[in-house]
Amino acid sequence: MNQGKFITFEGIDGAGKTTQIDALEAWLRARGLEVVRTREPGGTPLGEKIRALLLADDMDVTAETLLFFAARAEHIARVIAPALARGAWVLSDRFTDATYAYQVGGKGFDARKVEQLEALVQGTLQPFRTVLFDLAPETAARRLAAARAADRFERESRDFFNRVREAYLARAQRAPGRFFIVDAAREPQRITEALLTEAASWM
Ligand code: TYD
Repeated sequence: MNQGKFITFEGIDGAGKTTQIDALEAWLRARGLEVVRTREPGGTPLGEKIRALLLADDMDVTAETLLFFAARAEHIARVIAPALARGAWVLSDRFTDATYAYQVGGKGFDARKVEQLEALVQGTLQPFRTVLFDLAPETAARRLAAARAADRFERESRDFFNRVREAYLARAQRAPGRFFIVDAAREPQRITEALLTEAASWM
């Protein structure tokens, strides 16, 4: 039987993940593979309710981190683990690297506490590959301003997004085999080509 693979997509807001996840999803489906497309926070009915709280209400960073992991526990139990068990490919728009980047890198939350929650909620589950869309916050902010109204996270400062970006890059440096870094400033078509070439090596 086909082996399911868990792929996550990360990067600061406005880096252009959605278009590229669409392209990869279509490419995998064209190969006859089952694909489960999902996102965090969210991915389940309860997770989407938690997402609405997280994006709207200001809250203490510990409460915020626990809510991300509460949604994640539900997401793993109901969507990710069952899909992988039946051999599907799971494409998740964000996962735990986002907690390290936003809550730890951006807001200064203690990384060791996130490690504990990660072990509690995920056990040994880790993404097979993580595609990191790297982009200067200035460029991302210009794209977002043109696209839509900002949520609570997107209203954070340029400094905040610089810290988030650096935290993502630091994580990628520590796990180079898992991360595939994309220069998100390039033409979308060029990014798609690079991503699909990389994906061919995951088969
Ligand atoms: P996202 O779905 O990428 O936002 P949008 O649909 O508006 O593009 O993610 C929502 C926000 O949540 C995003 O700003 C990043 C943030 N986030 C965290 O701060 N920590 C996390 O663990 C996750 C998964 C997301």
